[in-house]
Amino acid sequence: MFKHVPGTKDILPDEVSSWQKIEITARKIFSLYNYQEIRTPIIEEAALFNRTLGATAEIVQKQMFLIHNQEDIYALRPEGTASIVRSYLENNLDKESGFIKLYYLGPMFRLERPQKGRLRQFHHIGCEVIGSAEPALDVEVISLAEQLLKNFGITGYKIKINSLGCTKDKQALSLALKEKLQKKSSQLCFDCQQRLKNNVLRVLDCKNETCQKIVKELYPSDNHLCPECLAHFGKVKNELNNLDIAFEITPQLVRGLDYYNRTVFEITHSNLGSQDAIGAGGRYSNLVKELGGQDLEGIGFAFGVERLLLAKNSVMQKPQKKLVYLITLGQAAKSRGLKILNQLRSAEIPCDTDYLSKSLKGAMRAANDAEASVVLILGDDELKKNIISVKDMSNSTQREIPIENITKELKC
Ligand code: HAM
Repeated sequence: MFKHVPGTKDILPDEVSSWQKIEITARKIFSLYNYQEIRTPIIEEAALFNRTLGATAEIVQKQMFLIHNQEDIYALRPEGTASIVRSYLENNLDKESGFIKLYYLGPMFRLERPQKGRLRQFHHIGCEVIGSAEPALDVEVISLAEQLLKNFGITGYKIKINSLGCTKDKQALSLALKEKLQKKSSQLCFDCQQRLKNNVLRVLDCKNETCQKIVKELYPSDNHLCPECLAHFGKVKNELNNLDIAFEITPQLVRGLDYYNRTVFEITHSNLGSQDAIGAGGRYSNLVKELGGQDLEGIGFAFGVERLLLAKNSVMQKPQKKLVYLITLGQAAKSRGLKILNQLRSAEIPCDTDYLSKSLKGAMRAANDAEASVVLILGDDELKKNIISVKDMSNSTQREIPIENITKELKC
């Protein structure tokens, strides 16, 4: 028998309602904030991600699902931001005001070592706003992320924020860190010894305890920021306070992708174990230009849906089903039953029946398994008298009504 590919997951019918609830809620909240949905392809040219995420990013180095197609190399998208900026430029969405608020839902792919909360195919709910450097926008985006969590019914999360500063600030910080960390390099973990050479900022958010200790001693909070970036970050923090959004300043937060600068943030949850980020995002000042567009800034974030569901403490409460289950006994009743089902469905009453010719007892069991709220029983004898039995499954009461009244009765 074939099995699913490791790191992928079937979303089975009894989980789908939780997914739908999250998706419906997300669409509702995004439209309250005036964001429009965008859907981009799952495959892109691999070079798009190499260029934008950075050659030293872990995603690029070892996590891309690549498809070699004659001369072209495609990748299954590992994230949405680069694709959306590509689409924004390719489709001239920058030609009107240049400012646009977009959201997206869909699968992403990373060739990671699977574990709880870490999959090879996972799903993002995210947004990207392109065209403004205003700190007020950083605040809108972070507050939107929080609104989504509140509306998903998730509590117990922590919003961590930091500012990486502009490109010059990042370079200065990298140089200073490199110099300081060189002296301690033998104490760093194997990965951080590599990062020291290629991407020293990533040493800051290494999970290894010794690395964390070294970094804490060395790393001064926002001293590396230039006056403009310091002022930008100051405004973001002030306005978040104004909106009563609780956040923690986390100088070690650098994020793994090259395109970030200035504000970065991550939302963690204690129910998740080692993979505790339910969502993350930040500002990108050079990405649009890097991909051939104007000098426009963007900011966005993405939630991992699987992690949202884990944070919600397994699957969310199932919505109460309103299903009518029809049991027919005899040929004439069966034939009339099909008409009744059509009539109910036309009146938007969800209903189903038994297609396995079960006995009354067996069909009642099937109705129970289907979590029907009402069972209708129609035998040939009832049909002759033009009546049908209606059983309310919540209190097991049963009554008979004329067949033609059934839709009206069930609509109430
Ligand atoms: P990211 O931090 O790589 O950011 O991913 C965002 C979220 O996706 C993570 O916080 C996590 O919840 C979820 N996630 C990531 N990898 C996995 C995985 N292997 N299995 C399950 N869930 C995962 C981005 O992708 C950026 N594009 C976010 C962004 C948008 N920044 C600006 N705009």
